[in-house]
Amino acid sequence: MTTSNGNQQKTDRVFIFDTTLRDGEQAPGCSMNLREKLAVANQLHRLGVDIIEAGFPISSDGDFEAVNEIAKQMGNYDNPMTIAGLARAREGDIVRAGEAVKPAKRPRIHTFIATSPIHMEYKLRKSPAQVIEIVTAMVKLARSIVEDVEFSLEDAGRTEFDFMCEVTAAAIEAGATTINVPDTVGYCQPAQYADRIRYLRKHTPGIENIVISTHCHNDLGLAVANSLAAVMEGARQIECTVNGLGERAGNASLEEIAMNFRTRSDFFPMHCNINTAEIYRTSRLVSEMTGQRVQANKAIVGANAFAHESGIHQDGMLKYKETYEIMTPESVGWTGEGMVLGKHSGRHAFNTRIKSLGYNLSDEEAEAAFARFKELCDKKKDVYEDDLIALADEVLFKGSSQTWELVSYEYAAASSGKPSATISLRQNGEEKAATCNGDGPIDAAFTCIDELTEEDIRLVGFVLDAVTEGEDALGRVTVTIEREAGIRVKGRAVSTDVVLAGIKACINALNSLQVQEAHEEARRSGEAVNRGAV
Ligand code: KIV
Ligand code: ZN
Repeated sequence: MTTSNGNQQKTDRVFIFDTTLRDGEQAPGCSMNLREKLAVANQLHRLGVDIIEAGFPISSDGDFEAVNEIAKQMGNYDNPMTIAGLARAREGDIVRAGEAVKPAKRPRIHTFIATSPIHMEYKLRKSPAQVIEIVTAMVKLARSIVEDVEFSLEDAGRTEFDFMCEVTAAAIEAGATTINVPDTVGYCQPAQYADRIRYLRKHTPGIENIVISTHCHNDLGLAVANSLAAVMEGARQIECTVNGLGERAGNASLEEIAMNFRTRSDFFPMHCNINTAEIYRTSRLVSEMTGQRVQANKAIVGANAFAHESGIHQDGMLKYKETYEIMTPESVGWTGEGMVLGKHSGRHAFNTRIKSLGYNLSDEEAEAAFARFKELCDKKKDVYEDDLIALADEVLFKGSSQTWELVSYEYAAASSGKPSATISLRQNGEEKAATCNGDGPIDAAFTCIDELTEEDIRLVGFVLDAVTEGEDALGRVTVTIEREAGIRVKGRAVSTDVVLAGIKACINALNSLQVQEAHEEARRSGEAVNRGAV
């Protein structure tokens, strides 16, 4: 096959490099704990991602642990993904990333340094010659640790063309196996970005032996367009994230890339290995785990992506679907809201359905989810697949500790007078209650919880949405809390009563905080022992 610059491409396979757990998680409000990251990593495997960037190991002990654990656990698959750890072009970063990815069957170190004039002068305060020296030394170091080394020219989108080729040649010479050309600030236009890739391929010695990668940010809404323009010029790896999460306006969205290849296979002479039927579920899981709701009109995974509202469109759809539908909802795994189970469904049918949705609950978790399902059947006429997923997620991510348990609650709000709530909690068998006022029933309830738990926490996020449509829909609340020390955790809960969902989400978050802090403490004391031994 021939590209527009006349070069022969080696393969028509495009590798999908998912950075939801690194660039995506870096975005404000998107942080995930280890269990959440593992759930996402497992789902990315089901989705058919080739490489996951699991984190930035030097940035925190939590990041190191997550990369390391993902590297261990993903090795259990017969067809394991490559696990990458990010590292600045610094010795400490590279060594740490190497340790983190070591257990992976396919480990990769991804190292980077800025190469644009503006970044070199103002951020790095280094000359171009110094940058090249660092690239050579650091890529060599990374290559002495792992076989698979990716080098990124940060802000490549604003790097001078000839310097870009010079740096790339140095990185290849030093042993890089993938060269990434990030449009870090989302500045490039598709034709310019394509020119850049074409120029790089034409003027860089050794480039024919490595994979060229894209990493496009979406500041001007062009991340996907730029990535696709680049593959037409020979790039064979696309870095992207689920739901387009990432720094500022985010990264190229994985689902949009995959569906472009699938829907326009008449246009693209290449393909990727994404199992598109897993897209919808992956999107929902990432939305759940990060607490970031997907905008309704988001391409591919938004709630309205396949909804046809206008009369003319509906008429056309009824006569012949393809009049307005270029891809089917089923192709992205959206199976509709069809009622799945009801009041009379038994434990066996429930468990089978939960398993088919990809959940592997322990007996105890399955029992708790079934009890919640039965409660729901009494309150809600139709129980949909999305309801089951919300229940399973609530149980699964509740946290192993139940330090605080809700015994009872009561709230009152009216157009006159101050809203109030009375909450009773149990801790280690002991019950205590508080009554407080607030700006609304949730505020009043949270004030009670504060008073009862005496925890020094700050509420940093509260997201409420409906799991499905209809008046009796489950309300889902994700609460993010933070302690002074900077530890952030999320708690989730669903209920047909949104105030109750808020109260339970807050208690779940508090319980998760206890687990996380105990974990941190154990790790710190373990570390102290290790340090003592050195
Ligand atoms: O946007 C960027 O340049 C990055 C690099 C670290 C690859 O995220
Ligand atoms: Zn980035």
